Amino acid sequence: MSVKVAMLGCGTVGGQVVRLLTEQSGDLAARIGDDVELTGVAVRRPNRHPDVPAHLITTDAAALVESDVDVVVEVIGGIEPARALLVQALRAGKSVVTANKALLAEHAAELFAAAESSGADLYFEAAVAGAIPLLRPLRESLAGDRITRVMGIVNGTTNYILSEMDSSGAGYAETLDEASRLGYAEADPTADVDGYDAASKAAILASIAFHTRVTAAQVYREGISSVTPADVAAARALGRTIKLLAICERVDSEGAEAVAVRVHPAMIPRTHPLAGVGGAFNAVFVEADAAGSLMFYGQGAGGAPTASAVLGDLVAVARNRVVGGRGPGESSYAALPVRPISRVDTRYHISLDVADRAGVLSSVASVFAEHDVSIAAVRQQGRTDDASLVIVTHSAPDEALRSTVDKIAGLPVVHDVVSVMRVEGEEQ
Ligand code: HSE
Repeated sequence: MSVKVAMLGCGTVGGQVVRLLTEQSGDLAARIGDDVELTGVAVRRPNRHPDVPAHLITTDAAALVESDVDVVVEVIGGIEPARALLVQALRAGKSVVTANKALLAEHAAELFAAAESSGADLYFEAAVAGAIPLLRPLRESLAGDRITRVMGIVNGTTNYILSEMDSSGAGYAETLDEASRLGYAEADPTADVDGYDAASKAAILASIAFHTRVTAAQVYREGISSVTPADVAAARALGRTIKLLAICERVDSEGAEAVAVRVHPAMIPRTHPLAGVGGAFNAVFVEADAAGSLMFYGQGAGGAPTASAVLGDLVAVARNRVVGGRGPGESSYAALPVRPISRVDTRYHISLDVADRAGVLSSVASVFAEHDVSIAAVRQQGRTDDASLVIVTHSAPDEALRSTVDKIAGLPVVHDVVSVMRVEGEEQ
């Protein structure tokens, strides 16, 4: 008897999975306690996979899932047909390993229910932060702890673009063009630059960390397309840099515990460990009551790194089948409410061009007071005709901060709102 594996999809990640499965078959068999046999690879265009033995290639994914296989590995991406095929596999008792973050972030409940109905395994380490072991530590190693916050850089494309903007001072559009030319950005970069990819990953992280179902639609999302060279310069002037962060928090203000999940660009101190994460790398901070702070760092994308995570899951589910056990299922018992960004405490950096005359600072400051927003730091620099005013707030509900900025923008003494950016990674 061997563990029979079907693959759905064979692109950048799938090709590497097939290679590693073939090259390391002896070691994998020793680790699992049984041989692993790849019985089929379902693809859309059969003639595009010269490296895969021809007899394994099929275009009929549903028939492959239905065939006599133990494990289905899905690396097609997107919602359909992946959703239907994986539900079919799980209901039939086949273990599933998937790298599909969009699917997990939207349809986790349906997939876990299908897995539960048959007792099958559903593993998806590769869906978040590529090679970095992150979901298994959250799901298993930290299962005895109380996680309070997960914050990190989970999208390599946007991290590359922001790192380049920071070092060159160039604008967003030209940096994106360069990233596309060099192969760091996809032909259609929307999912990355508009934060959808990071929001899916944040939903998955929050669901596991807080034992609560969170979908991508519940994640507050802002991408990086509106980050300007003025924002980058303002951050630099204050010893900060801009990163697209995914932030999942347990919040217990307002007298009730809830979770808040958001993805947006934020200024962090250059001394913060996440500030040193350059190029296409990912890094995630986890804070837990007993464990304290943990940091996970590594390659968040790419064929071989992502295939490493897929293979790790494949070994785990194959071992479970060999010994007759099962990995952890969905844990959503806490069912905490998801709080909208408007009621989540954040901090803002606001950079303004203002008139340089008596009473200007006090009229700006009074708008903060009106909205019950406390100012943490102010820096004013006079120029010939006007002055640059930089204000960093203490934490306050995001809607109060937004309203403050809107009202300040309308003051006659304010000539220009140069930069508005949330601040993270330092004392409140
Ligand atoms: N496109 C993602 C990134 C990798 O740029 O990090 C896959 O999630």
